[in-house]
Order: sequence, then C-alpha cells, then structure tokens
Amino acid sequence: MRTDILILGSGIAGLTLAIKTAKALPDHRILVLTKTDKGETNTRYAQGGVAAVWDAEKDHFEKHIADTLDAGDGLCKEDIVRIVVEEGPDRVREIIEWGAKFDKEKGSNGYDLAMEGGHSEHRILHYKDLTGWEMQRTLMEEAARYPNIEIDEHYFALDLITQHHLGRMVIRVTPDIECYGCYALNRKTGAIETVLARVTVLCTGGGGQVYKSTTNPVIATGDGVAMTYRAKGRVENMEFMQFHPTSLYNPTGENPSFLVSEAVRGFGGILKSKEGEEFMHLYDERLSLAPRDIVARAIDSEMKKRGTDCMYLDCTHLNKEDFVAHFPTIYEKCRSIGIDPMQDFIPVVPACHYMCGGILTNNNGKTSINRLYAAGECSSTGLHGANRLASNSLLEGMVFAHRIAVEIEKNIAHWSFQENIPDWNSEGTTEPREMVLITQSIKELKEIMSYYVGIVRSNVRLKRALDRLYLLYEETEELYKTTAISPQLMELRNLITIAYLITRSATHRRESRGLHFTTDYPGQLDFIEHSVL
Ligand code: FAD
Ligand code: SIN
Repeated sequence: MRTDILILGSGIAGLTLAIKTAKALPDHRILVLTKTDKGETNTRYAQGGVAAVWDAEKDHFEKHIADTLDAGDGLCKEDIVRIVVEEGPDRVREIIEWGAKFDKEKGSNGYDLAMEGGHSEHRILHYKDLTGWEMQRTLMEEAARYPNIEIDEHYFALDLITQHHLGRMVIRVTPDIECYGCYALNRKTGAIETVLARVTVLCTGGGGQVYKSTTNPVIATGDGVAMTYRAKGRVENMEFMQFHPTSLYNPTGENPSFLVSEAVRGFGGILKSKEGEEFMHLYDERLSLAPRDIVARAIDSEMKKRGTDCMYLDCTHLNKEDFVAHFPTIYEKCRSIGIDPMQDFIPVVPACHYMCGGILTNNNGKTSINRLYAAGECSSTGLHGANRLASNSLLEGMVFAHRIAVEIEKNIAHWSFQENIPDWNSEGTTEPREMVLITQSIKELKEIMSYYVGIVRSNVRLKRALDRLYLLYEETEELYKTTAISPQLMELRNLITIAYLITRSATHRRESRGLHFTTDYPGQLDFIEHSVL
C-alpha cells in the first residue's frame, strides 16, 4: 500500500490529525490503521473530561500552567506546558464545532466546568461521565466527511521501516534515521503488508496492559513506543507510569478495571476507610483532591498498614439526582455489582492508568527519527513531567495533532516514497503450536511488573524485575524467530519492551519524584534529569 500520510491509531490524536491534514491537503491520501475496531481506543473510555481555561473571569492561563507544573513535580518542560495550555481552548472550540456536546450548567448556556485533583479552578469540560465516548463519536463522524481519509480496521502495525530494512546498519546514535512506513498484519487475511508513506505518525496510545490491574482497554500494549525503540528512536521518562487512585475494586478481577472518575471526588466524594475514617489529611492539605501520585500512594500505604484489599469513596451525602445525572455509567456499574453509591461506600483501589513518558518529541511532535512524528499518549512531549495533571491528556492529543498537521503541510512536498523496500521475511517460521506459551508469559509479565515495579519501588525489587524480564525476553525472542506472527505474540514482545523501559528508567532514577517512589532514595536530587533511552 502507498499513502501520503500514514497515521497509526484512531483515538483523539490520530483522528484529529487525520481531519486536519485532510482539510489542509485535499489532494493527499491519508491512511489510518487501527489494530481492532476504529472506536476501540483509550479515548473512548475517558470519563472526567478535558481541561481548558474557559471561564476568563475566574480562571486564566497562568493558573492552569502552575497546576500542571506543580503536578509534574519539577520535570515538565515549561515551554510545552505553556503551548498546550494556551492553544488548548482553540482546539476544544474546534471539536465543539465538529459536533462534540459538553454538558451545560443547569438553566444556563455556559458549560458546566468540573473540578479534579490538582486543579485550582473548575475547568474540566465533560459530557456526563462519558466524555471520551462523545469525543470519539464526534471525531469518527467528522473524519467520515473527508473522501481522502481511509480508515482500515484490524490492521496491526508490526514494525517501522527504516534504512535498516535496506541493509544499512542503524544504531541509536545514527543521526539521520528515516521512516518509510511500516509493516502491518492484515488480521482479516493474515497477510503481512508493506505500507509505504511519505510521513508516518504514531498515535498508538498507552501501555497500561503491562500491569495486572489497569483502567486501560486491552489494546493498550505500548506498540508505538516498542516499535520506535526497536527502530532505534529515543524514548524518555518511562518510569512515570501513573496509577489512578480510584478504580472500582471488584474481587472478580476484571480486565480492564472500571474507573471511578476523579470528577466524583471533585463533586464531593470523600476517601475513607471501611470504618468511615478520613485519612487524606495525613498526606496532603488538598485532601481527596491532591494530585494523583499523592492520593494513589496514600491509598496504597493505608491498604498496606491496615492489611485491606481496598479503601472507600463515600458519596452517601451527595444528592442522588445530581449524582446520577453526572455519573450515570459509574452509578450503573456500581449497582451491577451490588453497591448503591447513595447508601454504600464505593470500594476503590489504585490501578495503572496512564503512561507519562513515551516517544521523545520536539515541540512540533517530531521524534528523533526523520519523517516520523508522534502524538497523544505514546509521545513524551514534556507536558506531564513526573506526573500528569488530570484531564490534560485529551487536550495534549488535540494540541499536538494540530501542530503536527501544520508541520506536515509545510514539509510534505520535500518527502518522497522510498522504493525497493523488501517484503516482510517470515522464512523459517511455523504456526504456533501452543498459544498458552504466549498467554502464560503475558500473565507472568504482569505479575512481575505489579509486584516489583508498582507504586512503591526499591533497588532489590527493580533488580528482581530486570532479571525475570530478561528470561522472558530471551524465551520470547526465540519464539519470535520460529513462530508465525500473531497479534498476541507481537503484543507480548511489545509489552516486554515497555516493561524493560519502565524498569530500566526506574533503576536509573536515584530519587523519588512524582510517580516514581523508591524506598532506597526517598528524597529528591537538586538537579532535574529526564531519563532518555
Ligand atoms: P488511544 O485513544 O488509546 O488510541 C490508540 C489507537 O492506536 C487505537 O486506535 C489503537 O487501535 C491504535 N493502535 C495501537 N497499537 C496499534 C498497532 N500496533 N497497530 C495499529 N493500531 C494500533 N484523559 C483525559 O484527558 N481526561 C479524562 O477524563 C481521561 N479519562 C480516562 C479514563 C480512562 C478509563 C482511561 C483509560 C484513560 C483516560 N484518560 C483521560 C486518558 C486518555 O483517554 C488517553 O490518554 C487518550 O485518550 C489517548 O489518546 P490517543 O489518541 O493517544 O490513544
Ligand atoms: C478521571 O476521570 O478520573 C480520569 C481523568 C484523567 O485521566 O485525566
């Protein structure tokens, strides 16, 4: 296949970019590949909303910037924070023009701006507790209006194509690596196709599935980051995996874990023990609305002290009608497992939620590889630093999709197709005889990461994790050499890479900062360092 612009991923970043380039370059072909259905993305599950300075009387850019920097614990790139906060409201206005409906205040035409942890003002636009669903719907409908956008579902991108595939040696410090497209598995036919592009953009989302308990859907296996690392591109800050403090504790262990939005705490929900004692005052003066790293660690610490499997969110004092109107999905989900949020405390537990690091990009979304861009959760733009502020992710996805669209429009004339790319080589491989070898390794990987590289880390735990990961890596690479490609095998390989990047970056960071807390170095170093691999 040949396409001018190749976009991997159909979430907020991928579809925003597709729409913008389709509009700016109507005579260019834009191909979006997505590994399952186009609507199955992290974006679709976003609950709380999108943060933007909206009410100019009460809020202003400097406050949103200060909140983002504070949550990021010294590691945000301030120029990027400023870009996202200042350009954000225009991007939100655009998606509203495309048809996104955000809730309005009762009896008024103004938006109902919600509050979440770490924000000093009400600035979260939302659609009930289904904001992501509404944004995904809008983007899919808008994208369908452009004849030059093609979305191919059930195409699994396997590897990026670079000079390496032309027989040239490429290492991480090679200065002029170029991306010519990707190899992708057509899941319907089983064929591995070569997709050539003048420019490629990774919008492949996060990698929460590397942990046993995560709010991320099963597609979130860090494929874009792993592909970039294999292609010798730069990746940074991978130790900062964000655990959301309040996923619904469900003893049946569902995957993904159901999220109880931070907006519920913004609405008045209070964290408590089973006996009804509040505990957040022991950790932060912002109580239940402190930034996520602090609340997740507090819950983890209380659970360990008390030997319990979860803590609780008390919403019993809130008005039922308002609660149900704001959080219909959360209310129904709780009821489905026998909890009435208006009478019972909601059992909650931290779960892996967001990858703050990722593919290193500059302020126009360019990666360290030429003709390769990245946007959304797979990228590390510098916005989140050591901990993402709630509801800044959808915003970042839209802002960087826009910036990349501008870059592509400026440069596409200089980029041509690379010829003579060899077909994917599957010589010497046979159909897998025992799929269980792959599924069992995925389970082991999740156990390793959850026990040794979770919310609280130490040198001993990280060393154990690296030793065990190495064994899994060797076994899996052996399997890869001899077995026909399957999405499961590729996801296992990608997850092992993500696990390795998280653990290695965590091992290098000899301090506790943001989401990375280690008992061996509880304090902070005076100098700020990004972990670039
Ligand atoms: P995604 O939306 O995850 O899309 C990734 C796309 O890449 C998918 O189409 C997938 O199929 C495709 N893909 C991946 N690998 C491959 C491959 N190998 N080949 C082909 N295609 C591939 N953020 C907020 O700002 N506000 C919120 O309220 C909020 N709530 C959240 C609630 C939940 C439960 C979760 C899980 C996340 C939430 N987030 C929230 C985070 C936010 O939703 C995500 O960070 C954001 O949607 C990521 O968008 P994206 O476009 O980068 O990737
Ligand atoms: C939530 O609704 O709590 C999730 C918000 C986010 O991840 O930004």
